[in-house]
Amino acid sequence: MKTIIYNIGTLAGILPEGVRMLKGEEMNHVECIQDAYLVIEDGIIAEFGSMEALGWSGAEYIDAKDGFVIPAFCDAHTHIVYAGCRDGEFRDKIAGLSYEEIAARGGGILNSADLLHETSEDDLYRQSMERVNEVMAMGTGAVEIKSGYGLTLEDELKMLRVIRRIKETTPLTVKSTFLGAHAVGRAYKGRQDDYVDHICKDMLPAVAAEDLADFVDVFTDKGFFTVEQTDKILSEAAKYGIKPKIHANELAVSGGVQVGVKHKAQSVDHLEATTDAEIECLRDSGTMPTMLPGCSFFLGIEFGRAKDYIDAGLPVALSSDYNPGSSPSGNMRFVMALGCIRMRLTPEQSFNACTINSAYAMGVSDLVGSITKGKKANLIITRPIPSLAFIPYSHQTPVIERVIISK
Ligand code: NIG
Ligand code: FE
Repeated sequence: MKTIIYNIGTLAGILPEGVRMLKGEEMNHVECIQDAYLVIEDGIIAEFGSMEALGWSGAEYIDAKDGFVIPAFCDAHTHIVYAGCRDGEFRDKIAGLSYEEIAARGGGILNSADLLHETSEDDLYRQSMERVNEVMAMGTGAVEIKSGYGLTLEDELKMLRVIRRIKETTPLTVKSTFLGAHAVGRAYKGRQDDYVDHICKDMLPAVAAEDLADFVDVFTDKGFFTVEQTDKILSEAAKYGIKPKIHANELAVSGGVQVGVKHKAQSVDHLEATTDAEIECLRDSGTMPTMLPGCSFFLGIEFGRAKDYIDAGLPVALSSDYNPGSSPSGNMRFVMALGCIRMRLTPEQSFNACTINSAYAMGVSDLVGSITKGKKANLIITRPIPSLAFIPYSHQTPVIERVIISK
């Protein structure tokens, strides 16, 4: 099956084969071709170039009508599989309670775990697919999805099976992450170390036996899991060949970055609280610092120091953190806009953070995240817009005409 997209005003986000991430100054540039075409063959980008070089031949044609064509967004950190919502806590938050205070009262993640426990696997899939369809329509072509609202063996497996079903039934590129250490399950209240043992001895082997997780994650933060507990879980996961992605430094400087880098994490995420020591620790580590500005926006906390990381020569990825407690939105275009407006990234830096670097953060930058021959044809076609900057600048204007996501 061959499709030719023609009359592309600007084809943006072109990278040579073999580039897996962009760091420091490399993030300042987005390679473009004006007045371009792009050929898709069997869901793969087969070729692209200037319109004058286009050889018209038997194919399906899509007229881009002078719009931009860019790679679909990659969202390397979500909790998109959850039951119900937490709109009651939204009221508590408005009234002045912090995220930690809501959690300490037994709300927060435990609230979602109770709801999920009452929800059947089929219903959980149905609810989650509504969000999956929502983010695809907004231009997301690859998504990482975490468990972590189960907190019992049975319910964690339920979540991971739903993620597997999303992998099988949608064209999205999906990676699944086991986040049993998101909070201490109710049955283990006051026995945190026993819960960590349960994760290591019972949950991880069961998850590995069904091959349900591409990654393992731990909420290494004040009031949640310690560095020692994280170390233990990551060491155990390594026995099954499962790589980490870590929740680190959302609520405080937690040591999560250091323990993540020690275990060669694919990414360390959040980083709202960061000192120069974390920046140094991540240098040349192969671990992608991934920031979640939607969470900072919603909770009213610090934004990550993305600019400092880039100025220090490091890469940065941005993702949505779509979840019911700290970021109830999976709109990557809004994430890109927050990257510019609140983190002071240039539109080019923010674009690269939401595409190639977030693809790296979920281990799929060989497959998606740029306009590159041989990559999946996951594309956004916009209406005619004046520049790449217009996408985050005019962030509520519905510029997306069409999203193509190839299986
Ligand atoms: O990434 N910080 C931990 N986990 C999520 C929030 C989960 C929730 O509150 O439901 C996050 O912000
Ligand atoms: Fe998260």
